[in-house]
This record gives sequence, C-alpha cells and structure tokens, in this order.
Amino acid sequence: MPKDWFEWHDLYQTEPRLQQRLEIVREFIAHSLNFSPSGVIRVVSVCAGDGRDLLGTLANHPRAQDVHARLVELNSQLVERGKATIESLGLTKQIEFINGDATVASNYIGAVPADIVIVCGVFGNLADENELNRLLGNLSFLSKQGAFIIWTRGHSNGIPHSETVRTSLQQAGFAEVNFKLTATRDMGVGIHRYLGENLTEPKEQQFFVFSGVANRAR
Ligand SMILES: C[S@@+](CC[C@H](N)C(=O)[O-])C[C@H]1O[C@@H](n2cnc3c(N)ncnc32)[C@H](O)[C@@H]1O
Repeated sequence: MPKDWFEWHDLYQTEPRLQQRLEIVREFIAHSLNFSPSGVIRVVSVCAGDGRDLLGTLANHPRAQDVHARLVELNSQLVERGKATIESLGLTKQIEFINGDATVASNYIGAVPADIVIVCGVFGNLADENELNRLLGNLSFLSKQGAFIIWTRGHSNGIPHSETVRTSLQQAGFAEVNFKLTATRDMGVGIHRYLGENLTEPKEQQFFVFSGVANRAR
C-alpha cells in the first residue's frame, strides 16, 4: 500500500488498471486537442499528480505549442517531477505547475476559463455523491462553454461508480463525447463537453473537499 500520493504514482509501473486508464486519458486529451479551434488552447488539471497524462500527450502532439496550461497539485515531489518533464519538453513558457490546493478557486485565476479541464483521480476521493455534484457545479468557473472535461472513476467491490458519475454529469448538463472502461473492467474514463455558460466569478471559493488517502485510494 502506498504511504502517500508520491508513492501511489509508482503503481503506474505495475498496475494494468492504472496503465490502461492513462492510455485512455491520453487518447481523450489528444482528441480534445485535435478538435480545438486554431489558436491558444487553455488547459487546467485539477490534482494533477506529476502531470504524466497531459505532458505525455503533448510530447507527441502537433498542437503542443498552442497549449497554455496550469496544473495544480499539493504534493511538492510530484510537482518537482512534473516541472522537470516540462523543462525536458521545452514547454516552460506555456505550462505552469503550481504547488498548491486544487480545491480553491484562487489557484485557477488567470488560467481559466479553459478549453480542456482534466479531473483524473479526483471523483473517487470525494465523500459522497453530493460532493461530486458540488464539484460538477463548480466546473462552470473553470470551463468555457463547450470545454472538454476528462475524468476517471474506479469501481470498487463490484460497484460501477463510473455509471453514477455519467448520470450526474448528464443531470448537470454535460454532454458525453466518449466513455471507455479499461480492459480490466474496473475503471471508467470519460470525456464530456460542458454545455453551460462560463461563470466569471466562482460560485464558492472552495469547489470540493478532497477526502481520499493514498493507502486507500479507489
Ligand atoms: C489519485 S491521484 C491522481 C493524480 C493524477 N491526476 C493522475 O491521474 O495520475 C490524486 C492526486 O491529488 C493530489 N491532491 C490531494 N489533495 C489535493 C489538493 N487539495 N490540492 C491539490 N492536489 C491534491 C494528491 O497529491 C494526488 O497527487
């Protein structure tokens, strides 16, 4: 069991479910980039980890130079690793990695509204469905109208939690573009479009509470 979120990332080396999830997330990020109009593409990543999903996609994507991104992550070791990757890709002028709290509105000012919002490894770390709905409502501050939202949700004890997320997204006015289960069948990855208007002021200063812990991550 990983003792913290830095160690949790080591599971990418051994767990097929995480490896397959990453592959689908990168595919969905690439799809969003492919379908973004010409010009600057703004991206934010909520609880970004070491940013391997976005950065791994940009390493081989023709629109990489158009991307202006802010990744927000609390664990400083992960941020350092992400910054080193950004440097190796030559993207330091356009990608910021913030070592800060991704649950608060102030850490997104200047980077939103975004064209692509990455919320991977977050929905399974919320207390309940009310908290999920609260976070979905607060995405209206992060997202342009039509923005792509890319998300993941693991299943546990045979419960298909990703179906709950799909229903909540539909009820909150997001349109599904694609949804895939990993080959392990216990992890859902989705890409939706935000249909509502962008809110220039956040509804709440804190969007959600991240209550998960690394040694019990779902
Ligand atoms: C399950 S991991 C997912 C990481 C990454 N998004 C991925 O999919 O590989 C959850 C991440 O959220 C981070 N985290 C937890 N609470 C946070 C907070 N309040 N603000 C920013 N990051 C947070 C953890 O440090 C961890 O890296």
